[in-house]
Amino acid sequence: MDTKKIQHAEWSSRFAFILAATGSAVGLGNIWKFPYITGENGGGAFVIVYIVCVALIGIPIMIAETMLGRRSGQNPISTMEMLTEEAAADERWRYLGWLGVIAGMLILSYYSVIAGWASAYVLKAFTGSFFDSDATAIKAIFDDFVASPVHLLVWHSLFMAATMVIVARGINKGLEKAVRFLMPGLFVLLVLLMAYAMTTSGYFQGLNFLFKPDFSKLTGSSVLTAMGQAFFTLSLGMGSVMVYGSYLSKDVSIAKASILIAGADTIVALMAGIIIFPLVFTYNLHPASGPGLIFQSLPIAFGTMTGGWLFGVLFFVTLVFAALTSSIALIEPAVAWLVESKGLSREKACIGAGLVTWFLGLGTVFSFNTWSGVTLFGKTFFEVLDYLTANLMLPVGGICIAVFAGWIMKREHSEQELNMPSAQSYQGWRFLVAYVAPAAVFLVFLHVVGVL
Ligand code: TRP
Repeated sequence: MDTKKIQHAEWSSRFAFILAATGSAVGLGNIWKFPYITGENGGGAFVIVYIVCVALIGIPIMIAETMLGRRSGQNPISTMEMLTEEAAADERWRYLGWLGVIAGMLILSYYSVIAGWASAYVLKAFTGSFFDSDATAIKAIFDDFVASPVHLLVWHSLFMAATMVIVARGINKGLEKAVRFLMPGLFVLLVLLMAYAMTTSGYFQGLNFLFKPDFSKLTGSSVLTAMGQAFFTLSLGMGSVMVYGSYLSKDVSIAKASILIAGADTIVALMAGIIIFPLVFTYNLHPASGPGLIFQSLPIAFGTMTGGWLFGVLFFVTLVFAALTSSIALIEPAVAWLVESKGLSREKACIGAGLVTWFLGLGTVFSFNTWSGVTLFGKTFFEVLDYLTANLMLPVGGICIAVFAGWIMKREHSEQELNMPSAQSYQGWRFLVAYVAPAAVFLVFLHVVGVL
């Protein structure tokens, strides 16, 4: 144990951990995905279900995943090896760590391409590309952009390089420093944009859409979508949270930290909604425009509103910041494993993992243009990757983490690791993680494979 302590870093404070974990949670999932799926699923009622899922499924699994990481103090692969041994469990539990490392790199390979779009849009906003453009012109800007493999490739490469430079500097020098500056910056930008949204004529219509539940709009499928989003947005199910937990000192309360992180993540998603929906209604856009909601619609607002230049630049800068702190979390399990188990230096591990991820990203880059006709089961490379990771690997990972923590791990070990203030709160967590969360995630899974 002692030798591991020497090579394995620790967060410099509880606050640093909370910032970094919040940075991992808050990303494209909150600012880009949450608004568009809320738009597609009818607003308020969906938001309520999403919040219930975060509370009842997300938080218990987050506690479980952080706990597994901290108990071993190692990367996800070694964590699962060690805990499997400790619990004298079936050897195959070790594959859970592998699943996480692989899922993280797969997700990052396309996440980086989308984050590259956001980076490109910072420049577009800055050079005034959106001025006086109508919806058709804005759509043309987007279509032209994604039709160019060279443009997508350049921005994907720049974004990957930025991520790897931060990761290479290690958790204390790179990651902590980055989030210390990025997270508060993000928050300030969102508050500014919210203040702007308040001045728009569609403000109350936007708020009504977001917060006034109309349960008649809720379908079984939107309930399951809300649950899946709770997973993705909290970064659960693949080792991101586990590896961040492994850098956490023993005296921090995992339950309290998880509640804070999930709360901050939810607030950012709601803030994004409060910014976007007033604009959507003010400029007569469609809430249900799908994944293009931000890239194809918001620039119309930025191009026409007073101060649109500044707010446009700020908005896309915000999106890039949020994506960057999530990307770091997506690659950290692989890097930590290469450093701790394969003995590579952090720099070499970053170059290796970064290059593989960058290369995989080429598939996503080309799937929007050159290879758009190349499909598997009717899906492009990007869609296959998104489906495989978000719809299959994360739910499987989540269910396994919940089952491992609730059923396999020895009770006294989890009790000791969590050190909850009362027996009731431990019991409550155990019930959620052993019964409620696995059953619910199982339903999501059945849904995504098309059984439900
Ligand atoms: N949670 C991030 C977002 O909302 C993305 C992310 C980071 C993630 N790490 C993850 C998603 C691990 C799933 C698993 O954008």
